[in-house]
Amino acid sequence: MLTKMLDCSRGNLCEAAEIIRSGGVVAVPTETVYGLAANAFDKNAVKKIFEAKGRPSDNPLIVHIADYGQISEIASEIPTLAEKLAEAFWPGPLTMIMPKSKRIPYITSGGLDTVGIRMPSHFAARELIRLCGVPLAAPSANLSGSPSPTSAKRVFEDMNGRIPAIIDGGESDVGVESTVISFEDGGVRILRPGGITEEMLLTVSPKVTVDAGVTAMLAEGAVARSPGMKYKHYAPKANVMLIKGSCEAFKEYVQNNAAPGDYCLVFEDSEAVQGLKYLTYGSTPDEQAHRLFEALRQLDEKGAKRVFARCPDVSGVGLAVYNRILRASGFCLIDLEVSE
Ligand code: TXA
Ligand code: MG
Repeated sequence: MLTKMLDCSRGNLCEAAEIIRSGGVVAVPTETVYGLAANAFDKNAVKKIFEAKGRPSDNPLIVHIADYGQISEIASEIPTLAEKLAEAFWPGPLTMIMPKSKRIPYITSGGLDTVGIRMPSHFAARELIRLCGVPLAAPSANLSGSPSPTSAKRVFEDMNGRIPAIIDGGESDVGVESTVISFEDGGVRILRPGGITEEMLLTVSPKVTVDAGVTAMLAEGAVARSPGMKYKHYAPKANVMLIKGSCEAFKEYVQNNAAPGDYCLVFEDSEAVQGLKYLTYGSTPDEQAHRLFEALRQLDEKGAKRVFARCPDVSGVGLAVYNRILRASGFCLIDLEVSE
């Protein structure tokens, strides 16, 4: 299959909508990461998404809408708190899990009776949803297990020959996937942290719980509240070690443990360790979120085998960055702060 790169012109969005309306899959830009979109109501179309990604069938897809009214076709019950959160944070990087309607096939919800819904803010994504006239099921547009793509070029690397078209909407703004929440006893639970932070949710929800799966490996035999937690995810080919501690402690640790050929993934140039190659991913949580996945892909391109990474601060969107890099490391966290 030939994979076309389309810019965001009106004509191209119409062409992409036509592909989706006839049961195909198209990669679309969103403000978080690129997604692989198909008609959420069409079983056969959604099956093509799972095939293109090589995704396990029990991992549910997020359903994307362009207008609030569409929610009633997808959810059978809308919590009052969801309405308030939608008003505050949609369009934007927040996915809310609710009981699904009968119109959403089980292949879309990964066999669950619930469905994750989000209204993206990227104009091309919303325009495409409107042109299609149906909600779009869309996971991140990477091959299952790889870092999510934040540019059309990275989507092409994973999806060339697997889907008919990619819409190029430039670099993703946020850079990490949406915050995923569920509802419980008058509050919400964060299952995956993202651009809508705990602090932001607390301005609307009386209670916000961060699920233990966000910062720790799921215990053997434990049931994941979100199937995505079970999978390694976001992983580059390199062996990543996440080093928690001051810049000085980081440098000392790396000097004592690294071999020639190893890489460092640091916030800024001043943290480079002499004699080792390195990449930077930014000094603020927003910048780190924006650049992390691209940095992980670059490490693969460079053929990095071992990577010593500085551990991000967990405030604000930093929690999302920490969650992704911790998973990229396969939960290999070396905490230099606890030893003395
Ligand atoms: O920002 C995003 O959310 C991007 C863009 C394309 O919108 N999409 C995305 O989708 O990251 P995906 O499929 O890569 O991740 C969806 C996550 C998975 O971890 C999945 O397990 C969880 O959301 N999820 C989806 N529906 C769920 C449900 N009904 N119950 C629990 N977890 C759910
Ligand atoms: Mg994904």
